[in-house]
Amino acid sequence: MAQAPEMKEVKVFAPATVANVACGYDVLGFAIDAPGDEVIVRHSSKPGLRITKITGDGGKLPKTVEGNTAGVSAQDLLRHLGMMDRGIEMEIHKKMPFGSGLGSSAASAVAGVYAVNKLIGEPLSKKQLLPFAMTGEASADGAYHADNVGPCLLGGIVFIRSNQELDIAQLPVPKNLWAAVVHPDIEILTKVAREILPKDIPIVNATQQIGNLGGLICGIIQEDYGMISRSIHDVIAEPHRQKLIPEFYRAKRAAQSNGALGFSISGAGPSVFALCEGEETAQKVGKAVAQVFTDAGLENQTHVSRINQKGVHVIS
Ligand code: HSE
Repeated sequence: MAQAPEMKEVKVFAPATVANVACGYDVLGFAIDAPGDEVIVRHSSKPGLRITKITGDGGKLPKTVEGNTAGVSAQDLLRHLGMMDRGIEMEIHKKMPFGSGLGSSAASAVAGVYAVNKLIGEPLSKKQLLPFAMTGEASADGAYHADNVGPCLLGGIVFIRSNQELDIAQLPVPKNLWAAVVHPDIEILTKVAREILPKDIPIVNATQQIGNLGGLICGIIQEDYGMISRSIHDVIAEPHRQKLIPEFYRAKRAAQSNGALGFSISGAGPSVFALCEGEETAQKVGKAVAQVFTDAGLENQTHVSRINQKGVHVIS
């Protein structure tokens, strides 16, 4: 790929993502328009990558490059390119909570590596940045799965055939597919949500899940909302993880009775999502689900969005 000219300063936005999409544990995810993290990078006369400012993290993130996913992914890219001595300053502006199920650590990892790649004249394509963003995210939750990083980087709905080989495919996005994502104000650590899952699953569950994942992918490709709806079921993670989310089944019933195509946990939770045909239904479903959490005394935020097809991008 021909190099673009270097830029003086780059500000990028990396969107929130919904991982798993019910039946695609670790292998399917999509991006939404908002919220998302922002990263700003600029050249510096002092050698090496430095994090000069972090906002929106409640003081939780250290300013060391190794201490957060944006620094780790960017550093991994610079190491790969043999450019570790380049002077680069980075600012990280967190716009979504940690442990929210919205792909917060993935968004920072993607934003960090994408911003630095742009700044130095874009030596690598977006898709080539995937392994570096993965290293960044893995530094936060210890696991290696591209179902947040993939859609955050590329946009749209991303299917991962193999996380080890990073063999991924972008699916076409049905025109009228909307998501309603509701975040109840509790924190769930991905590590904990992964540890509560059983190590083995009965073959009957595996068969059901494979059928549903295939059905969901066919429904998405053929724009068959009925097939999408029949397929959004998770018999592997949801039955175990729902215990971590107060009023999960009440929220699910509210989504279903207001016309959602399907409803499940966003990533490791506590955010939940519904896929809907059309904005009007998505708005209605988002309100009904939010009301369930409000009634239970839980603060919450709702994000109604089309599937974001852009992924990470420069904003100035
Ligand atoms: N696929 C991951 C999980 C997403 O469900 O644990 C959370 O990072």
